[in-house]
Amino acid sequence: MALGKSFFVKLLALRYRLLGIEQFIIDPDREYTKLCESVGGTIIKIGPSSNTYINVLDIREESIEEEQGYLATKLAKLIGFFHLIFGELNEEEKAILEEKIILCYQEKGITFDDNSLYRQKKENISSKPIFKESKDMPILEDLFEILGREEKTKKFQTKLIPFVKGSLKFFNQHTNVKMDEIFIVADVYELGEDNLKYGMYLFTEIFWDKIKKNREVKKAIYLDEVWRLIGVTSNKEVASFIYKIFKTIRKYGGSAIAITQDISDLFSLENGTYGKSILNNSSMKAFFSLEEENILLLSQYTNLSEKEKIEIKSLKRGECLMFVGEDHILAKIEAADFEKNCIM
Ligand SMILES: Nc1ncnc2c1ncn2[C@@H]1O[C@H](COP(=O)(O)OP(=O)(O)OP(=O)(O)O)[C@@H](O)[C@H]1O
Ligand SMILES: [Mg+2]
Repeated sequence: MALGKSFFVKLLALRYRLLGIEQFIIDPDREYTKLCESVGGTIIKIGPSSNTYINVLDIREESIEEEQGYLATKLAKLIGFFHLIFGELNEEEKAILEEKIILCYQEKGITFDDNSLYRQKKENISSKPIFKESKDMPILEDLFEILGREEKTKKFQTKLIPFVKGSLKFFNQHTNVKMDEIFIVADVYELGEDNLKYGMYLFTEIFWDKIKKNREVKKAIYLDEVWRLIGVTSNKEVASFIYKIFKTIRKYGGSAIAITQDISDLFSLENGTYGKSILNNSSMKAFFSLEEENILLLSQYTNLSEKEKIEIKSLKRGECLMFVGEDHILAKIEAADFEKNCIM
């Protein structure tokens, strides 16, 4: 129901822009275009009609996570990504897949030794070693070829056909876009309903790397329709990555904003573990009008009073019940005309 969630977030992003906060927005519905143009941001579109490519197998210099090397960090992310494509994987299948991904990087000279991510230093040049570029990375086709070598991995290969030769083959390209801007909207709309999650995950990973780059810079990431990444059509690896963002982003000087319309889906994976954890780690929550059954569900995870349960039902467009720390506040989202012109 269109009650003003996105409007609220667009207004927030507009005002954050004036404060100089870097912002990265994942836009599955192609509705942040106007805002992006108003603030002079950049839209990065992936899809069949775009010639902007991003390679999911890229390892970037800022990709590293604490206590893990580059390849180990990437492996965990890729298992999540391929789990989205391949569906349920048992432990044995995960192990086989992991082995093949490792081989795929190995054939490009990338191993668990972090030095392998750097280009060979040239003699007589005493500069800092250079991190490998996009074109040094494997692409999906390389993995596809490896998966075809053995009978036991052929079923994975088959599932990759659309990504290598079919309708989603724009995933099978080296990255050709730099992401240095401070306001970026990732337009994944063209991927279509069933494939949105792949694009959303791809950009979440890239934006997360950007967020980690410089702790001194304030920034925010927006995940509209987040249920696609933590709901029942997702998986543990992806959902726990999203949760990790919400848990740790503050220490990088960032904030994460999740928007969802479907409360039941938010609590559908693993008994709601991820939805609940994200909710508990959010310092501010805004609830727009909800139907009876969703109010019941929500009251299992938050402390709604009886009065609030009634209030939340009668909220109008642009009105919400905000939880800020211990306080619960009824709020109305109001924008000045010039702000409205910037966002709609
Ligand atoms: N506070 C507000 N002031 C003025 N107009 C608003 C306000 N909130 C929402 N609108 C308008 O109402 C319409 C629906 O709002 P919005 O797109 O934000 O809904 P939503 O909750 O994100 O819906 P959906 O669930 O479909 O994503 C939009 O045209 C928007 O411009
Ligand atoms: Mg919306």
